[in-house]
Amino acid sequence: MNVTYCISPGGKLTGTIKVPGDKSISHRSIMLGAIAEGVTEVSGFLEGEDALSTMNAFRAMGVRIDGPHHGRVTIYGVGKHGLTAPKQVIDCGNSGTTMRLLSGLLVGQGFEVILTGDETLLKRPMARVADPLKQMGALIETKEGGRPPLAIHSTSALNSITYTLPMASAQVKSAVLLAGLYANGVTTVIEPEVTRDHTERMLEAFGYKPTINGNSITVDNTAILHATTISVPSDISSAAFFMVGAAISEGSDLIIKEVGINPTRDGVIKILELMGADIRLLNITHVGGEKVADIHIKYKPLKGIHIPEELVSLAIDEFPIIFIAAANAQGKTVLSGAEELRVKESDRIQVMADGLVSLGINAVPTPDGMIIDGGSYHGGTINSHGDHRIAMSFSIAALKASSAITILNCQNVATSFPGFDKLARSTGLEISVL
Ligand code: S3P
Repeated sequence: MNVTYCISPGGKLTGTIKVPGDKSISHRSIMLGAIAEGVTEVSGFLEGEDALSTMNAFRAMGVRIDGPHHGRVTIYGVGKHGLTAPKQVIDCGNSGTTMRLLSGLLVGQGFEVILTGDETLLKRPMARVADPLKQMGALIETKEGGRPPLAIHSTSALNSITYTLPMASAQVKSAVLLAGLYANGVTTVIEPEVTRDHTERMLEAFGYKPTINGNSITVDNTAILHATTISVPSDISSAAFFMVGAAISEGSDLIIKEVGINPTRDGVIKILELMGADIRLLNITHVGGEKVADIHIKYKPLKGIHIPEELVSLAIDEFPIIFIAAANAQGKTVLSGAEELRVKESDRIQVMADGLVSLGINAVPTPDGMIIDGGSYHGGTINSHGDHRIAMSFSIAALKASSAITILNCQNVATSFPGFDKLARSTGLEISVL
């Protein structure tokens, strides 16, 4: 199914909205709930295709999971050693998180499994997880060039390792930590920069506290997880589209309710603040170990900035929409240190630069970032290359275009943000779906 978005130019975003549940936390709630002892109740679960891929994978490995019904999911944990061999290949769909975290979790199970995915996922790098897992003694094969499908063979024992991540990646960190729950001895992961820490926080919610020392995280195989109740906050990565939409369009005044603002995820707030945005965090609380707030954002002219490199990993999924903010800012915005953007659901540096240039913005891609001169732009047709975040970013760009924007290949918006078009329409974006 091919989905096209058509967005009329202009408008402003107003009202009070709630965006769907956090994708990273939703994946992890299923994974840890499945290997816990007892029944875990989840609310606010993201009913998007990526999180459903994780859910279906565990059903195929013998875990009873009820739901989702309006974000509620019940997971009947089978314990650390209770998963059973799936009868078929596990299809991770478009979801890199499903494939990479499952690899780590499954290498110690003592059964054979094949992990595959859609056309996009089959092009993404998996050696980054296979390499450390092999160092632990896992028998895991990739296709040529370290691409999926992945074949995991049964192994008698996993060894622990101390692994220094070659890139800032929460998926690789999590894969090694999950394998470490099954390895003999003590497994430590050292990160070059802080990345999202939902795995560590959720392990603690399930009653097992990893040892954290600066950028090093240690687990061992004594971990026994106990079922719990998880309330998934709204996804800051989904909220970011509306934050930028409100920041760039005159007259906007928007509140986004109960958004997760975990300090390892709040880079987009900090970057927009540096650009001069009018953002306020209201009703800050903690829900299940995660910091949550309502985000109030109003229109205020933005200025171009040099994005501090220490914020890159804290905003890694938000750069497509941050580039739209930069295109609407006064002056130049420079991003560097973000080469990881080239291996996301698309090459987000190239695809965003191509789209911006086709609208008349001076955007120059660099190996690890982009230089964007803010200015006015026209409409046109954009190919999102099946990347959900590119599709949503250019939808928001239409608020400031001088003519309509048509976006091709938008079907994968359903992987992370089911109902995006409807919610966007309710705030004032004139978006129609073909
Ligand atoms: C994620 C980690 C990030 C992010 C992805 C979700 C996670 O990927 O881009 O959308 O849930 O751990 P990397 O680990 O590749 O940076």
